[in-house]
Order: sequence, then structure tokens, then C-alpha cells
Amino acid sequence: MSLLAEKTANVATADGMLREEIGEIIAGLSASPKRIEPKYFYDQNGSELFDRICTLPEYYPTRTERSIMRDNMDEITRLVGPRAALIEFGAGSNIKARQLLRGLESPVAYVPVEISGEYLLEQANDLKAEFPSLSVKPVVADFTKPFDLPTHEDVPERNLVFFPGSTIGNFEVDEAESLLRVMKHEARIGGALLIGVDLVKDIERVTAAYNDQQGVTAAFNLNVLDHLNEGIGANFRRNLFRHKAVYDKEHNRIEMRLIATADHSVDLQKKAIDFAAGEHIVTEYSHKYTIDGFRSLAERAGWTPRHCWVDVDNLFSVHYLTSEA
Ligand code: AVJ
Repeated sequence: MSLLAEKTANVATADGMLREEIGEIIAGLSASPKRIEPKYFYDQNGSELFDRICTLPEYYPTRTERSIMRDNMDEITRLVGPRAALIEFGAGSNIKARQLLRGLESPVAYVPVEISGEYLLEQANDLKAEFPSLSVKPVVADFTKPFDLPTHEDVPERNLVFFPGSTIGNFEVDEAESLLRVMKHEARIGGALLIGVDLVKDIERVTAAYNDQQGVTAAFNLNVLDHLNEGIGANFRRNLFRHKAVYDKEHNRIEMRLIATADHSVDLQKKAIDFAAGEHIVTEYSHKYTIDGFRSLAERAGWTPRHCWVDVDNLFSVHYLTSEA
């Protein structure tokens, strides 16, 4: 395809969705069960709702990960060494990167990578104010595919890919493996990965974290419909759907669902999508791993596991891995 043809094929809509993504959305909603990829949660409103989820009493991952990082920061700092470039995949919020940047020895650069541009730039600016000498270069990209890294005047000692929050859990196991390969590519030889991974645990505990009392997770889930309405001119009615998260024991994962409450149809780019009452859209998987299970997955993607820290209750894990060759 010529460069011009490629540009025309990728015409963005008002809300920034590309034709390619619209095709992906239609394909997902034509499948059985219907699917919407979780990356579409994160418009401005969705990113803000997610930040609220992170502070919910039921939602243990964020605070547990933060405490694991806090308690082991000296060791993390020693392993990473000085003058690293920190590349954060899916940088929805800077809070965790900030904690790490404060702990690391003379970090040279911070590269947040995120699909939602507006929110990202806002957050990157805040960070720049706190670390004036840091080269902050946000990348707006779909990080599941390889992307170009910015260069820095001050050449970093090594790349440290940071993927906190157990976002790796969003991906099916084979997809997670290929994403870990993309990370290895971006880290380069001699680089490292610091990644948060939610652990397999008591089902009640994990289910409660995705069905909170205040209904913030429900609002977050339903918001994806508003995002699609704005982004591709669909006409989803959120009052015809309800949120539910269920645990799939066989796959060790939470399934976030939007369940249709009545028979109806939705128009999406001139295509009608029919819903039967009780039928659901899967909007997200959140896979849980054992420590060994995650280690072997990462090894298949070419990483060398070096260290793993957990909290006292074995709720969450943080892994440090290196790229040797
Ligand atoms: C951002 C994917 C890690 O799976 O726990 C939280 C997203 N969805 N509550 C998760 C999420 C509902 C979160 N990740």
C-alpha cells in the first residue's frame, strides 16, 4: 500500500477512532459471545472512573501493589541500577510511575505509552513539573503492536519497561505472551521488565473486587457504551444493559459483562446488532496467575525471571525480569 493510501485508510473519526478499530469493534459485536475490547474503556471519563476504582475498598490490587513496591523499593532500585529510561505501558495514571521514579537512582527518561492521548498529555505535564530534569516523552499508541521509542539527549543506561496494575491480565494467555515479546523488543537487550500480576485467590474476594458496592465498576463498564456512541456514532442505550463480573474457574479469570435487560437492537455504522434479553457482551477479562504460571509465560516470551515480591496475604505479585539475548 502507498503511504497516501495508508493514510486515507486510517481516517480518524471525531473522537479519534480509526477505521481499523471500527472494523475491530464491529467484528467483536458480531461474534458469539459478543465482545468489546477493554482498551475502549479508556476515554477521559473511563480513565477517571478507573482511577476511582483503584481507591475502592474492595479493589485490593492497586494498594497492594503499591505497598509491595514501597516495601521493596531499595531492592528494586539496586536491581535496576542508575540512569534508566522508564517506559510505562498503559500509563492510565502516573501515581505508580511517580513512586518508582522517586525511588530509582537518577532516572533519565520517562516514556508513558497510552492509547488515550488527551489524558496522557495532561498527566505527563504534571510529572514534568515534579521532575524538571527528566526527559518526559509520551507516546500515543496501541501498545499491543510494536511502536517507535523516542530518543533522549541524555542516553539512558538501560530501558526498564514498567507494566503495573496487572493489566497483563486483560489479555488471553497467547496474547499476553506476544505482548511480553513486544515489551522485550522495546526493552532491548540488557533491558528489564517490572510487572504487577494479580494472583489466583479465594473466589469471593476476587469477585467482590469487580462488583463493588458503590457501583463504580458498573459505571466504568457501562461507560464503554457511551464511548462507542461518541466515537463511531452507535446508539447504545445504557439503561438497557447492566453490569456483572463473574469468575471463570477454568481459565482463572474475571469476566466483565454487560447484560442486555431486554430484546433490542443497536445501530452501529449502519449495521444493526441484535440483542436478546439476558444476552451479554464480554468487555474484559482479568486473568489471575500463580507465581510459577506467570514465570513460565514470561520465559516463553524470552524473559529471564530474576525476582518476585508478594504481600503478606499473597494477594498480588510484582516480578522483575531481564532481557539477556
Ligand atoms: C486495569 C486491567 C488491571 O483487570 O483489575 C478493574 C481493570 N476492570 N476493575 C483489572 C478493571 C474492572 C483492571 N486492569
